[in-house]
Amino acid sequence: MGGPGHFAPNGRCASRPIAFWISRMNVLILGSGGREHALARACARSPSLGKLIVAPGNPGCAEVARTVPLDLADHAAIVALCERETIDLVIVGPEAPLVAGVADDLERAGVACFGPSRAAAQLEGSKGFTKDFCREFAIPTAAYGRFRSRNEAKAFIRARGAPIVVKADGLAAGKGVTVAETVEEAEAAIDGLLPASGESSAEAVVEDFLDGEEVSFFALCDGVSATAFASAQDHKRVGEGDTGPNTGGMGAYSPPSLMTAEMADRVMREIVLPTVRGMAARGTPFRGVLFAGLMIGSDGPKLIEFNVRFGDPETEAILERLDDDLLPWLAAAAKGALPGGSPAFSADAALTVIMAARGYPGEPLLGTRIAGIAEAERLPGVAVLQAGTRRAGDDIIANGGRVLAVTARGPTVREAQERAYAAVDQIRWPEGFFRRDIGWRAVARERAAGP
Ligand code: AMP
Ligand code: GLY
Repeated sequence: MGGPGHFAPNGRCASRPIAFWISRMNVLILGSGGREHALARACARSPSLGKLIVAPGNPGCAEVARTVPLDLADHAAIVALCERETIDLVIVGPEAPLVAGVADDLERAGVACFGPSRAAAQLEGSKGFTKDFCREFAIPTAAYGRFRSRNEAKAFIRARGAPIVVKADGLAAGKGVTVAETVEEAEAAIDGLLPASGESSAEAVVEDFLDGEEVSFFALCDGVSATAFASAQDHKRVGEGDTGPNTGGMGAYSPPSLMTAEMADRVMREIVLPTVRGMAARGTPFRGVLFAGLMIGSDGPKLIEFNVRFGDPETEAILERLDDDLLPWLAAAAKGALPGGSPAFSADAALTVIMAARGYPGEPLLGTRIAGIAEAERLPGVAVLQAGTRRAGDDIIANGGRVLAVTARGPTVREAQERAYAAVDQIRWPEGFFRRDIGWRAVARERAAGP
């Protein structure tokens, strides 16, 4: 088992200019979803890994790492775990601990953290903050207003007309957004967010509707510079054909054909790099992964929102395509020392289908038994990543809304999709459901283009 000062003389690690003789790192991943299972699998493959702990993790994470129960709101307990286990690097999965300042608390304790400080996590924590930031640094995004008064918000809505978008300011797990087709619908959304009279402590952002296709774009940032990581498209609606209520994401695929090398360069130049420079200029440097939710329209990419962590389920698909050693990249970003170049990805596609518990995104049915995971994983190019699961003896039990992230790789999105659904069909779980059409846009494009 390695700690700081243990060296692994091997030539397999890092085709990159990070280190030739690299010291092994003890790594703690915070979180318990499919994203964290995917991160844990990628770290477990790394020649530069010492020990790997996921807290609190899930039964999938437990196959590649030690899992430790932990309340992610208890930063003192996180720091104590790091000290006890001589952790060199903490990788933070979800946004809530970042917005609550876990990176600051780790820094005070001398532990490197992949994930931004509380001040830099405002890029996800407050939509108003991000809109003002975009205005200051000329980052393309929808025109907007910020409101604490109902009347002022409604006057703005009537002046701009519909379609128009109304958002709650703070973290709302994807539930604080109304894309209104009519002025009346937008006004009703304002009624739900702001009190009838006077100034409220709550805030609403109202912004223009952006037309185009959405892409999730990820860049690694070290406080002063950034490198493109990968991009994906996810399916946020619960129903096939992208209908019904929003969810955390019902599936994803990577790469999206829209994200050509030229488009990725543009996103880096127009959105990511100005953000990293702007945050540094303000004295709140951004370290970690910047997740830009983009709308790609006829006049190029515009920012819908930033997240300050990896996407879920995008990460499950993206990491299946990673042909590089993830860990040195994340460590370099955390330590403010990204090398030149960017991580290597396969030209293959990868596609993730989320299997959710009946009732999701409302009240999911918990406690039902899932069979067939091992059979699904025996199929070539398939990984079954676990999210809301728990173990009871030999059984895997549904323990959340999004439960499995069934992922497959293939030379085209169509083949990745076929393999992913062949794997889904191996899973015996009558109380679960999934969408049959993940990747439909890309598959239709491939059909139109190819033989
Ligand atoms: P957000 O929580 O800001 O990512 O918004 C959730 C979803 O609402 C996005 O993924 C988009 O599908 C949609 N959305 C948000 N803002 C806009 C906008 N200005 N124009 C069109 N769609 C939007
Ligand atoms: N899949 C969208 C997100 O992680 O927020």
